[in-house]
Amino acid sequence: MPDKELKILIDEQTLCARIKELAQDINAYYGEKDELTVVCVLKGAVMFFCELSKHLKMPLRMEFVSLSSYGDAQKSSGRVSALNLSLPPLENKNVLVVEDIMDTGLTLNFLLDFMRSKCKAKDVKLAVMFDKKCARKFPLKPDFSAFDIDDKFIVGFGLDYMELQRNLPYIGYYE
Ligand code: IMP
Ligand code: MG
Repeated sequence: MPDKELKILIDEQTLCARIKELAQDINAYYGEKDELTVVCVLKGAVMFFCELSKHLKMPLRMEFVSLSSYGDAQKSSGRVSALNLSLPPLENKNVLVVEDIMDTGLTLNFLLDFMRSKCKAKDVKLAVMFDKKCARKFPLKPDFSAFDIDDKFIVGFGLDYMELQRNLPYIGYYE
């Protein structure tokens, strides 16, 4: 949206402080002894995943999947493209899926179904940076969420508009 002004919604310090708090909740939930596999949903979750992982204390395995549901628009396309879903065997593992934002829930509904049926993980939980509850079309709730957000299109810290702005160190919106 080049004709609109980009405003800061959440600055870097606030964002990182809240992500650290969320990591502490995750540490408290899982404990520090047992292994955890964290699965980053590329591309949007990349910055959140790195920032969160820095503060996780248990032995951590990092895996990456790549999904897309928005295309280049600002509304969900209604379809999920699985660009890369290759994961190691996850039988008997605790898995935490890490996603940038839960909007309609389509993407995570697809991924959680896949993880639960095909990967046979012991337990699959979900951490999101943003929960856009008002846009939800699937009965899904994140287990860990850093911020609730109203129905606003945001960019930065991994989130894109037409593949740009992912590198912003803060969360912005256009006005
Ligand atoms: P869902 O499948 O409708 O829940 O959409 C989830 C995906 O849409 C996220 O992983 C993001 O990539 C993208 N998305 C949803 N809302 C926003 C936004 O406000 N800014 C940028 N991307 C978004
Ligand atoms: Mg995404």
